[in-house]
Amino acid sequence: MAKKPQTVFVCSECGYESPKWLGQCICGAWNTFREEKVSDTTAAASIMRKLSGHAAGPSKIAEITSLEHSRMDTGVSEMNRVLGGGIVKGSLTLISGEPGIGKSTILLQTAANIARKYGKVLYISGEESPEQIKLRADRIGGLAEELYVFTENELETILETIEEWNPVFFVIDSVQTLYSSRLTSASGSVSQVRACAAEIMRVSKAKGIAAFIVAHVNKSGDLAGPKIVEHLVDTVLNFSGERNHGFRIMRAYKNRFGNTSEIGAFQMTQEGLREIEDLSSSLLEESSKGVEGAVTTAVYEGSRPLILEVQALVAGSGASFGRRSSIGLDSGRLNMIVAVLEKKLGLNFTNRDIYVNVAGGIKPEGTGIDLAAAIAILSAATGKPVADPGMIIIGELGLTGELRGIPGPERIAGEAQRMGFGRILLPMKNREKWHEKGKIEAIGARDILEAVKLSLQD
Ligand SMILES: Nc1ncnc2c1ncn2[C@@H]1O[C@H](COP(=O)(O)OP(=O)(O)OP(=O)(O)O)[C@@H](O)[C@H]1O
Ligand SMILES: [Mg+2]
Repeated sequence: MAKKPQTVFVCSECGYESPKWLGQCICGAWNTFREEKVSDTTAAASIMRKLSGHAAGPSKIAEITSLEHSRMDTGVSEMNRVLGGGIVKGSLTLISGEPGIGKSTILLQTAANIARKYGKVLYISGEESPEQIKLRADRIGGLAEELYVFTENELETILETIEEWNPVFFVIDSVQTLYSSRLTSASGSVSQVRACAAEIMRVSKAKGIAAFIVAHVNKSGDLAGPKIVEHLVDTVLNFSGERNHGFRIMRAYKNRFGNTSEIGAFQMTQEGLREIEDLSSSLLEESSKGVEGAVTTAVYEGSRPLILEVQALVAGSGASFGRRSSIGLDSGRLNMIVAVLEKKLGLNFTNRDIYVNVAGGIKPEGTGIDLAAAIAILSAATGKPVADPGMIIIGELGLTGELRGIPGPERIAGEAQRMGFGRILLPMKNREKWHEKGKIEAIGARDILEAVKLSLQD
C-alpha cells in the first residue's frame, strides 16, 4: 500500500495545498509554496473553520442585535484618523512594516494611552524581554499603571492569559514569533501564522476585546507569511517612511470600519513617535526653492491637502535607452509624462536618465501631481528653475498635452496661502470656476506648453 505523504506544499497567498511544489499557484501567485507537515495544515484549517462556524442557521437581518460600534480613543489623533475615529471594540488590526520602523514603539505608546483611559491592557511580546520593553517605555513615557507586559511565544498560554485577565485591549508583537503547540512546524511557517492569527481573532471576537497584531514584512514589502491573515483581520495598517528623515507614514490598506484614504504622519524622536499635525511645514522644511528640477506642488492625502516638493534629475545615460526611476510617482505615469513632453515639446529623452522624487516618502494617489512632475523634468533638463519660488503648480496632464482640472483646488489654495505662497498655476478648467477670494493669485493654463511658458524662467 502506498505510504501517505507526510508533507504538503501550501501557498502563502491563498492557503491552497498541493502534494508537490508548484511554481505558480491556482490563485495566480508565483513562487509562494512552502513545505508544511500534513497534520499541521489540517489542524490549522480546522482552526480557521471554527472561526466562521456559527452554530445557528440563517437569521433575519432585522432581528440581529447590532454590535455597538463604540470606539476607543488611542490617545494618538493621527492613528485615530487612519482607523476612522479610533479602535472599534472587538476589532482585530494587523500592523506591518519594515524592521526598525517603529511598530513596537507606536503600539507601546497606544497601549499606555489606552491603559490610562480605559483600564487593563496586555502587551504580549514574543521577541523582546520585559527589561527591553521597560527601557522603551521609560524613554517614551509609557509607564501606565494598568499596562501589563507578558513575554511569551506559546499561543495556548497567551490565549489562557487573555481569557483570565480579560483586558480591554491587547497587543501581540509579533504574530511570526508565536507557535501553537498543537502544530509541529516552526513559528513563522504558513500553518503556524494562519492558526495563531485565527485563534487570536476568535478570542478577540468572542470576548469583544480589541487587539493589534504586529506582522513583519519581507524584502519586497509584502507581509511575511500567509496573505490569508490579511483577509481574516478587520483592518490592515502599514507603517512606512524614510528612515533618514525620521518621517513615518501610517496608512490603512483595508478597514472594515472606515475608509482607507487617510494617512497619519509621525516623526521618530528620542521620546517615541511624535505626531505631525502640520505636515506641509515639515515637508517643506528642506525644500530647495529656486533650484532647477524642484517644483512645489500639492496633493490630497485623504481629506487633507499637503504642500510638498517634487524633484527631478535628468542626466546623460551610458546606455542607448535611458533609465526612468521614480519614488512616490507611479512608473507608468512617469513614462506617460515623458512621452507627452517628447511629443508636445519636440524633445528627445531617449538616451537620458530621468529620476523623479516626491518629498518625504509621500506616495500621492491622484494624478494632480502630473503637471508639477512634468515641469520639474523640463526644469532639470533645461537648467531653468521655476521663475517664481512663491508659486505652486497643480494639474493632471492628458495624453494630448491638455491640462485637466482636479477636484478641490480651493482648499489646496487655502493651504498654499497658509504656507506663504502667493500664486497657484492650475488648469484653465479649474481657473474658470475659481471662487477663492483669498490673497493667492490663480493663473490658468490650457496645456503643457502654456504651463511651461508661465512657470519656467526665460
Ligand atoms: N534611544 C533612542 N532614541 C531615538 N530613537 C530611538 C532610540 N531607540 C530606538 N529608536 C528608534 O526606534 C526604532 C526602533 O523602533 P521599534 O523597535 O519600535 O521598531 P520595530 O518596527 O518594532 O522594529 P522590529 O521590526 O525590530 O520589531 C529605531 O529604528 C530608531 O529609529
Ligand atoms: Mg518591534
